Amino acid sequence: MTHATHPFAVLMDITARPPTVFVKGEGGYLWDDAGKRYLDFMQGWAVNCLGHSPPAVAEALAAQAKVLLTPSPAFYNEPGLKLAKALVEHSCFDQVFFANSGAEANEGAIKLARKYGKLHRAGAYEIITFEGGFHGRTLATMSASGKKAFEPLFEPKVSGFRKARLNDLDSVKALISDNTVAVMLEPIQGEAGVWPATDQFLGELRALTKEHGLLLIVDEIQTGMGRTGKLFHYEHAGIEPDVMTLGKGIGGGVPLAALLATEHASCFEHGDQGGTFNGNPLMCAAGLAVLETIDEPDFLKSVADAGLFLESELQRLSARHGLGEVRGRGLLLALDLRLPIGAAIVAQAFAEGVLLNSPQPDALRFMPALNVTREEIFEMTDCLDAILTKAGAARRVA
Ligand SMILES: Cc1ncc(COP(=O)(O)O)c(C=O)c1O
Repeated sequence: MTHATHPFAVLMDITARPPTVFVKGEGGYLWDDAGKRYLDFMQGWAVNCLGHSPPAVAEALAAQAKVLLTPSPAFYNEPGLKLAKALVEHSCFDQVFFANSGAEANEGAIKLARKYGKLHRAGAYEIITFEGGFHGRTLATMSASGKKAFEPLFEPKVSGFRKARLNDLDSVKALISDNTVAVMLEPIQGEAGVWPATDQFLGELRALTKEHGLLLIVDEIQTGMGRTGKLFHYEHAGIEPDVMTLGKGIGGGVPLAALLATEHASCFEHGDQGGTFNGNPLMCAAGLAVLETIDEPDFLKSVADAGLFLESELQRLSARHGLGEVRGRGLLLALDLRLPIGAAIVAQAFAEGVLLNSPQPDALRFMPALNVTREEIFEMTDCLDAILTKAGAARRVA
């Protein structure tokens, strides 16, 4: 089938997409239906943490598919129990609720906080979130997000979210009232352009929320599952949050997400939360395969090393082309372009067979597979170097 014969119009037109259809993925690469190969530094938006179609995930899915797809969430299943146990053993949390998307996990975190407020804080329901934050696309998670483009959409918003400024503790303090029940943030704001909360800010936020009896909710949907060189980002700051959400990498490419809570925060009662596909054995089997791989000796060290290598290569490019800072941690990095040329670079790289992402007009975000190789990093930076050289020459001529 050629591009011209693909019926793109049968899908709702929710975003601009190139008229390309991907048919195969393996490790760091994707292939389209014309046989063209692309080096992938987006990896499904930081989803394919082990690369495309990793054998461990493919085999776990195939094996599980043959024995049990779902008994219904009214019953326990083995992969769900095993994955929850492994997540609890590897974190500071005591209980897990599985979801199908990051937004759904965050929606659950918001509900859990409101329930906690009802039980323990005289009905307090407000959650302090952050300008620039991104928590998903359900009504509540869009309302919790601090993304400017969301502001005019789908009014009226879900109430109960007040926005502080990242790394500004006073802006959080100023919003705390008797109505406040929690503070919720991404340790690194990904969609906003990779803006990290400092470890110091996270530490101070933990102390402040404890002092006021508030829950600290970390949205680790992008930063969790090894992305920043530790299994969970909160470990860098040496803190223990009350609630965490995971998504993206936890399923290694399949729709799986999770809401985790400490014993005192885990207060759902029967009827509060649920869902037909939540914690189904097929997705949880994939999640187990992912976690077992990330848990292998030296895996996280190799992520941290690859992150430092990518960071130094990006810094080299930045110095060579007069660009701005490289920010982020591990394998979630951004390059400040200083000019709104992100979309043009992404389009050029796509034509050259490299998939990049520009979450903001003046920034590129890099979120390759956690097992990205040095050769793949060189291939990407060589391509970017050539594009930036051409763009610089064009600017000089103009
Ligand atoms: C930090 C964060 N939270 C939540 C979400 C929403 O996850 P999903 O798209 O799986 O609903 C995302 C997705 O980009 C995210 O980066």
